[in-house]
Amino acid sequence: MQIQSHLMHPFLMNLYQLAKPLLFSLDPEKAHHLTLQLTSLMPQLADLWSSPPPASLSSTHWGTHFASPLGLAAGLDKNAQSLDFFARLGFGALECGTVTLKPQIGNPLPRMFRYPEESSLRNSMGFPNEGADHLTRRLLSKPQHTRLGVNIGKSKDATATEAIDEYLNLYEIFAAQSDWITVNISSPNTQGLRDLQNQKWLESLLGELSSLRQRYHTPLLVKLSPDMSDEELKLVTLTLIKQKVDGIIATNTTHMPDRGAGGVSGKLLRVKAHQKRKFILDLCLESQTPVIGVGGIESFEDILGFWAAGGKLFQIYTAFVFHGPALVGQLHRAIEQFIKRSGLKNLDAFFALTIPERQKVIGLYGH
Ligand SMILES: Cc1cc2nc3c(=O)[nH]c(=O)nc-3n(C[C@H](O)[C@H](O)[C@H](O)COP(=O)(O)O)c2cc1C
Repeated sequence: MQIQSHLMHPFLMNLYQLAKPLLFSLDPEKAHHLTLQLTSLMPQLADLWSSPPPASLSSTHWGTHFASPLGLAAGLDKNAQSLDFFARLGFGALECGTVTLKPQIGNPLPRMFRYPEESSLRNSMGFPNEGADHLTRRLLSKPQHTRLGVNIGKSKDATATEAIDEYLNLYEIFAAQSDWITVNISSPNTQGLRDLQNQKWLESLLGELSSLRQRYHTPLLVKLSPDMSDEELKLVTLTLIKQKVDGIIATNTTHMPDRGAGGVSGKLLRVKAHQKRKFILDLCLESQTPVIGVGGIESFEDILGFWAAGGKLFQIYTAFVFHGPALVGQLHRAIEQFIKRSGLKNLDAFFALTIPERQKVIGLYGH
């Protein structure tokens, strides 16, 4: 059954704003599960807000066509429960996971917190997920027209050496089912995980992964934390470039000790994530290593800031929770206007510009 969004009363299209007070009165994780259950049972609900990306939003990355540069960040649909719903909303890409080899229950509850006045979240989930076998089965019926990435993580108790075997295993399991694979070494909620963001360990992992990468050709991305010093971040980024990863996702959540355990996302992360992304983008300029932007992205201005620094694809999580499904259409319309006014054919043409050329186009647009 298809719901015709153009026939819908604005009241229904604002359904999320109406349902939000009720959802926000519930414990954040309960509200999250409830929403995922509802949207997995009724993916056609997405048609209320559906915003198929206009042709001008298309671009090509790693030889694959993306209908929109807007992606759903990892962690929102860990077990690929509602991919149909998110694909119907118009996202160009969905990243499921973080998935571990075996199912895990994650950290003790409560582990998800809202800061509504600051449009931010904090979580200390610890990769609760149903495991690789379950996700593999789910992905057998994944949506065909939306790009899909799988974000992989080490299990709770794995040592650094065991973690290498787990990442190799997970890459091999999901390589044929996904458009890219993200190695997550940046969640603050799994003990020892962020310690893997060091040159020596990364060299061993990526050295071992390179033969699998050559066999399967599935792009390999690494997701980084914003909490490294510039010195550490430079060393790690240069290692990733040297090891020829296909992309870097920047950034994961940030640890704010005054707020409590776990990682903070959304507006409170915005400035830090932008600065770290810009730092990484500058280092990637020569190698042209793609940087996927995530962290505090909420408005078209945020996207322009990222594009002006050399970025292309980007993802959202927290802004989606606060603004709801209508955000997808709002961002699509803003990008469409921008491309139209720039006189360029599509996003591919914009992404092909040098950074000074991009900045000129953005400046002429009035930003
Ligand atoms: C509740 C929650 C769970 C998350 N789980 C994961 C995860 O499993 N794996 C991962 O790589 N990132 C995870 N993230 C991080 C997001 O993918 C994203 O990097 C981060 O939230 C910053 O983006 P945002 O400001 O748009 O939310 C999670 C974020 C939140 C809020």
